[in-house]
Amino acid sequence: MKELDTGSAISTIILISGYGTNLQAILDEVANNHLPIRIISVLSDNPQAHGIRRAKNAGIPTKIINYHGFKNKAAFHLTMEENIKKIDPDLVILAGYMRILSEEFCRQFKGKILNIHPSLLPKFRGLNTYQRVLDSGDEFHGSTVHFVTAELDSGPLVLQYRTKIQTTDDPKQLRKRVQLGEYQIYPMAIRWFAEGSLKMIKGKTVLNGKRISKPKVLEET
Ligand code: GRF
Repeated sequence: MKELDTGSAISTIILISGYGTNLQAILDEVANNHLPIRIISVLSDNPQAHGIRRAKNAGIPTKIINYHGFKNKAAFHLTMEENIKKIDPDLVILAGYMRILSEEFCRQFKGKILNIHPSLLPKFRGLNTYQRVLDSGDEFHGSTVHFVTAELDSGPLVLQYRTKIQTTDDPKQLRKRVQLGEYQIYPMAIRWFAEGSLKMIKGKTVLNGKRISKPKVLEET
C-alpha cells in the first residue's frame, strides 16, 4: 500500500453524541494510513458519550459542549457552530451526532458536511428506523452516507450499504448487521471526498466528475 502524504490531507472535525463505533472505524482507517484526513477535533454534545474516550485513546483533541448546560437550543447551536467555524475544517463529519445543525451553518458549509443515516434514504428519515422498516415489511434495509443540507436527512445521497431483511431479524440484530456495513461505507465515502473525487455541486452529488442521480450501493456479501 502506498504511504499517504499526510501533508496534503484535508482537515476534518467529527461530531458525535454516543457510542462512537463509526468514529472508531474512521480512527482505525486513519491509523492504518488508509484515509487521508487530519482529525483536528472530536466534538460531543454529550459528556457521557463513549466516543470521547475513543478519540482520546487515539490522541485526538476532544471538546464537550454539553447540550443540557445551555438555557436554550439556539445558544447551544451557536456555541457548537462557533467552535467549528473557528477551526474552519475542509469537512465536518457527523458520526452519530443527534442534534440538527442550523440552516445558516448548513448554507455556510455547503458541500462540506457528511452524515450517515441508518436507512436506505429517502426511505425512513428520522429516528427508530429499524423498528419502522421491520413493521413495513420491506425486503431490504441499510444505511446511507449523504451530504447534509438544511432539510433533515434530505441532502444529496452518496453511498448506501444494503442488507436483506431476514424473517428472524429483530431491531437489534438488524442494527448490528447494518452497522458493520456502516464501518465500510463511511470511511469509503470520506476517502472519496478527501481525494477530491466526491463533491456536491449545485445541490447534486458528483462522483469522479459525473453527477449521480442515485447513490452507489454496496451489497452485503
Ligand atoms: C449509526 O448507526 C448511524 O447510522 C447513526 O447513528 C449511529 C451512531 O452509532 N447516525 P455510533 O455512535 O457510531 O456507534
